[in-house]
Amino acid sequence: MPAIQHNISLQPYNSLALQAKAEYFSSVSELDELLEALAFARDRGLAVTALGGGSNIVLAGDIAGLVIQLNLCGVSHRLDSANNAVEVTWGAGENWHQQVLRSLEQGWYGLENLSLIPGTMGAAPIQNIGAYGVELADLFVSLRAVDLLSGEVVSFDRDQCQFGYRDSLFKQAGRDRYIIVDITLRLSTEPSLNTAYPALDAAVVGYCAEHHLPAAAVTPKMVSQLVCTIRQQKLPDPNLLPNAGSFFKNPLVASEQLATLLAQFPQMPHYPQADGSAKVPAAWLIEQSGLKGAVRGRVAVHDQQALVLVNRGDASGAELMALAAEVRDAVTQGFGVILEIEPRVYGL
Ligand code: EPU
Repeated sequence: MPAIQHNISLQPYNSLALQAKAEYFSSVSELDELLEALAFARDRGLAVTALGGGSNIVLAGDIAGLVIQLNLCGVSHRLDSANNAVEVTWGAGENWHQQVLRSLEQGWYGLENLSLIPGTMGAAPIQNIGAYGVELADLFVSLRAVDLLSGEVVSFDRDQCQFGYRDSLFKQAGRDRYIIVDITLRLSTEPSLNTAYPALDAAVVGYCAEHHLPAAAVTPKMVSQLVCTIRQQKLPDPNLLPNAGSFFKNPLVASEQLATLLAQFPQMPHYPQADGSAKVPAAWLIEQSGLKGAVRGRVAVHDQQALVLVNRGDASGAELMALAAEVRDAVTQGFGVILEIEPRVYGL
């Protein structure tokens, strides 16, 4: 039986460093330990909350029931030499960025654009992490999860996960029902770069010019390093300035509203989608609303990337949620666009 503690501060377990407590807390490293912790919760009628790296959650208040931190580790792989591919399975508790770097060292490619994303392998499918033109769904094969209803370990392929933009089954109908224990991705053993995302393309062009390199000499490792550089310039390091990455999704604006907005704000950046709608950067809407860098006591809108809300020190979830509400209200008033919070909010 894993140790189960009572009344534990979750401040070290969430990258926003919000003060909140777990009624019960347990850290599990093996599937058996997870099943034992779940039995403990079931016997006492306790709600269960699973935590990965805690980098995409907002603890708005204390968490009743049992909080389980997933530390299941391990990496295995199966080569598919005929197709220059490899399928890799990671325990849910493995750190995402460390495994991106390890994969590159092994000569397994495809994760480079997703370098330096905080969090764990097991949390990655929940919000279908994405950055610089690649998202998890592009590489995804399957995952295994414990179904809290049956207590069984079940498998999901890509279609069953219902991936969308920062979305999956595990944020929708499967929310609170499954605890992911491992994930399997298909990577390439042949480098194949995807550098079309404008900020990444600009970085690659600049790097080649500076080092007198032809574009063909660019490697996945270089792309990984460039992505790290871009992220470090814009996104605050949670260890130095607690945050949960993008706090809002980039909203999809329908074609009619888009036309109206563009007539009023011709310089508004927008990324057209197949159906005539467009994704508009929430960061731009927040910046235009005058809130980039806004400080409200112990919380703030980051001054380098307006999509990130930060804890300046010992803030409560309520303070952060009040700032989130102010941001949403300002964008709704200024643009008629409703922002949706991206991380999962607990303890409301
Ligand atoms: N912009 C502003 N003001 C800002 C920052 C950005 O106006 O303060 C505008 C600029 O026009 C810029 C555009 O927003 O060109 C896009 O900015 P950026 O490339 O930084 O990307 P983003 O849309 O703000 C998204 C993801 C990030 C991901 C980057 C790169 C979402 C919610 N966020 O941010 O993901 O790293 O693209 O692909 O889709 C995360 O989910 O936690 C995250 C960091």
